[in-house]
Amino acid sequence: MKEKLNNTVFKIISTIAEECNIDAYVIGGFVRDLLLSRDSKDIDIVVIGSGIEIARKVAKKLGNLKVTTFKNFGTAMIKYRDLDIEFVGARKESYNRNSRKPIVEDGTLEDDQNRRDFTINALALSLNNNSFGKLIDPFNGLEHLKQKVLKTPLEPTITFSDDPLRMMRAVRFASQLNFNIDEDTFNGIRETRERISIVSKERITDELNKILLSDKPSVGFKLLDRAGLLQIILPELHNLKGVEVKNGISHKDNFYHTLEVVDRIAPHTNDLWLRWATLLHDIGKPASKRFDENAGWTFYAHNYIGAKMTGKIFNKLKLPLSDKMKFVKKMVKLHMRPISLSEDTVTDSAVRRLLFEAGDDIDSLMTLCEADITSKNAEKIKRYMKNFEVVRQKLKEIEQKDHIRNFQPPVSGEVIMETFALKPCREIGDIKSAIKEAILDGVIRNDYEEAYEYMLKKGEELGLKPVSEKPPLTPTKGEK
Ligand code: CTP
Repeated sequence: MKEKLNNTVFKIISTIAEECNIDAYVIGGFVRDLLLSRDSKDIDIVVIGSGIEIARKVAKKLGNLKVTTFKNFGTAMIKYRDLDIEFVGARKESYNRNSRKPIVEDGTLEDDQNRRDFTINALALSLNNNSFGKLIDPFNGLEHLKQKVLKTPLEPTITFSDDPLRMMRAVRFASQLNFNIDEDTFNGIRETRERISIVSKERITDELNKILLSDKPSVGFKLLDRAGLLQIILPELHNLKGVEVKNGISHKDNFYHTLEVVDRIAPHTNDLWLRWATLLHDIGKPASKRFDENAGWTFYAHNYIGAKMTGKIFNKLKLPLSDKMKFVKKMVKLHMRPISLSEDTVTDSAVRRLLFEAGDDIDSLMTLCEADITSKNAEKIKRYMKNFEVVRQKLKEIEQKDHIRNFQPPVSGEVIMETFALKPCREIGDIKSAIKEAILDGVIRNDYEEAYEYMLKKGEELGLKPVSEKPPLTPTKGEK
C-alpha cells in the first residue's frame, strides 16, 4: 500500500514519529476511501502516545501551521492545503448507557480499532519507518470492502449501544457506497433501534441528508424502514406505507411511490432541498385520504396539508427554518400544478399564474413533477411527458413576453395614492390586486402604460377621480 500514501504529509509524519520513537498510523475513513479510490480530505492519525505533541511537531515542519487542540479529548487538528488532519492518541473507550460520551483511557492500536464502528472503518496503515504502508486489518475489513459488506468489529449490539448513531451510519454507508449490511449486524440494529433516542436530532438529520444525497436514496430509506428506525425518526414518512382496498378499489402505496420519485429525481439534481421536497411531496396523503363511492380514493388538498407538515418536520428534525424550508414548502404545495395544467388545454393565463406562484423555482418544480410520473402505463407516461414539453415551451414564451417570474407590480401603491389623492386605505390594495389579476388573466400586458390605464378604469369604478398628471415610471421597490 506504500504507493497509495504518496502525499508528502505522510512521509513527514513518519519522520517525526520516528524521531519521537512513537508509532503512528493513518486510520478509519481515509484508509477506506483510499482503497475504494474515493477522494477524501479528512485524515485521521492515531499515535501510540500523545497526539497533540506529534501534531505540534508536524505543524512546525509543514511551515509553522496553526494547531487547534482539544485538550479534553486529547486531539489536535491541522489544516494543510485542502486537507484536515486530526491527531489523536490511541484510545480504549467504555460507554455509559445514557450518553454517547465515552469514558476514555489510553490504549493500544488494537484497542483503538476495537472501538470503531465497522470493520471497513477500522483499517489502519502504518506510518512507521520499518513498516511504512503496511495494512493492519484485524477484522478482515479488506475482504469486507471487496464483498461490499458492512459488519461491526465487535458483537453488533455492543458497537451500536456504545454509539447508536452508528445505526444511522450503517444505513447511510449502505446507501452511499452501495454496500449490504451483514445479517447479524442488521439484526443488531433492529434490536438496538430504540437507543437512537439518545442521539441528537442534528446528528440524525446529518445522516438523513447524506442518505438523501446518495445516488439511490431508496436503498437507505427502505433499510431505515426494515430496521424499525424510520418509525422512530420520521414516522410521517412511515405512515405513507400500505394499500387499502374498498369495493375492490385500491390506491397506490405512497411510501414506495415516494421512494421511486426520489430515485427518479436523483440523476437530475444534487440540490438537497429539492430532494427533501421530493421526499415530502405526498406527506399529506394519509391525513387527507377519503373513500368516496363515486370517486374512489381521494387525497383532497394533500398538498396544502403536506406543506404544513413540512414546517413541523423541519422544526422537529432541526433542519434550517429559513429560505430552504420556504422553498420545500412551496414545492410541496405546488407539486400537482404542472400535472393538472398539462391535463387540460394549456392556457396562457394558467401558465402565467403558475409562473407567478413558482417564481424563480419554476424549473425545480418542473423537475419534481416530471419525476413524479411513475405510472406503469407507457402510453400514459408518453402523454404526460409530451404535455410537460408543451407546458415548458409555454412557460418560456410567456416569461419572455410578460416577465411574470419575479413579478413586481407595474404601478406602485405610491402612484395610486398620488393619482387619486388617497391616504393609506383598502382601495389601494384592491386596485393593485385588480391590476395583478388582469395581468395574470392576460387582459392587459405587464407594462406601466397599460397598467396605468387599467388603474384609472378601476378607480372610476370605485368612484375615485384622478387629481394629478401621470407620473413618469419609477422602479418599484420590491412590492408584491
Ligand atoms: N467512527 C466510529 N463511530 C462513529 C463515528 C466515527 O467508530 N460514530 C470512526 C470510524 O472509524 C470512522 C472514523 O471514526 O471511519 C472517522 O469518522 P468520520 O470522519 O465521522 O467518518 P468517516 O468514516 O470518515 O466517513 P464520512 O466522512 O463520510 O462521515
